Amino acid sequence: MTRSKRKWDHIQYALSTGQTRLSGFDDITFVHQSLPDVSVDQIQLASQIGELQLSSPIFINAMTGGGGENTYQINRDLAQVAYRTNIAMAVGSQMSALKDPEERKTYEIVRQENPTGIIIGNLGSEATPEQAKAAVDMISADALQIHLNTVQELTMPEGDRSFVGALNRIDKIVQSLNVPVFVKEVGFGMSKETAVKLSSVGVSAIDVGGFGGTNFAKIENERRDRTLSFFNQWGIPTACSIIEAKESQAALSIIGSGGIQTSLDMLKALSLGASAVGLAGYFLKILLKSGKDSLENEISEIKNELIMMMTALGATAVSDLQKVPIIISGNTHHWLNERGIQ
Ligand code: FNR
Repeated sequence: MTRSKRKWDHIQYALSTGQTRLSGFDDITFVHQSLPDVSVDQIQLASQIGELQLSSPIFINAMTGGGGENTYQINRDLAQVAYRTNIAMAVGSQMSALKDPEERKTYEIVRQENPTGIIIGNLGSEATPEQAKAAVDMISADALQIHLNTVQELTMPEGDRSFVGALNRIDKIVQSLNVPVFVKEVGFGMSKETAVKLSSVGVSAIDVGGFGGTNFAKIENERRDRTLSFFNQWGIPTACSIIEAKESQAALSIIGSGGIQTSLDMLKALSLGASAVGLAGYFLKILLKSGKDSLENEISEIKNELIMMMTALGATAVSDLQKVPIIISGNTHHWLNERGIQ
């Protein structure tokens, strides 16, 4: 199977396997405040991930690595939406374009459509420092994401089987690049133990990529004769993962992602300790089913809804959300107790 066929299968299966509501956000409730003492026009959506300044905490997370006309068009449309809504965007894995120059245009179009916006490159943890630098140069990236996807690789029939030395390679990439390095999961979440290891090599941010949204075990299992079905339920729910990462590494920027679909999910992720939120599957679905104008409209509506809810909570800045009182119930409460997190 060619790489571009596999990537197109990913897109199709991402849409058909759907997103669950298992990311844990339903366990989080805001404590209503009747005297917020702010007005709507005081609310600022600006935020930052590590050294990167963002005009809004929302960004389009990595999708559509690999070549082919379909992925080129998706990247072009996503880049146009990112430009018009002034939000950051991460591209999908650039490894294919490092191996085959024909595929570079799938990524270069993103920078062409959005010359001044924040664009984040993407590679796997098998990358060398030279490949990391080439990926950044390809799109003049403002930061580089390194994805960790052990369970996806194991479920993929043709996937990697050795994960030895990943932290060491990330360390070398962090040392050699002059842009921030973010490390992300792809839907299985990050534990506090992983956060400690990543922090020790100086990454700028952790994108938890938690369980409850796009499910790459299910997607890869669709392509297997004998499924590894035990991986379908594998992973740390996004809400738990944000809290784990933030509690263990308070100084590190945390990105909330994995199953985020609504402005309320975003607000909850930001209140749990994230300083930005990444959406992949939900945005892709809107783009492919309803078009780029619908996606642009959805992002504008979401920003407006965030402002309404921040007003109700009396939080004028995104960072204030980490101080608003919340109630944590259900499985998320149980998880945190078991993990010794208060
Ligand atoms: C992805 N994702 C992804 N991540 C990554 O780091 N590199 C990649 O190339 C891709 N490719 C990719 C393709 C498609 C079609 C989808 C839907 C997703 C993973 C993505 O960035 C994110 O971590 C997960 O999808 C979980 O977030 P959502 O989809 O639940 O918002």
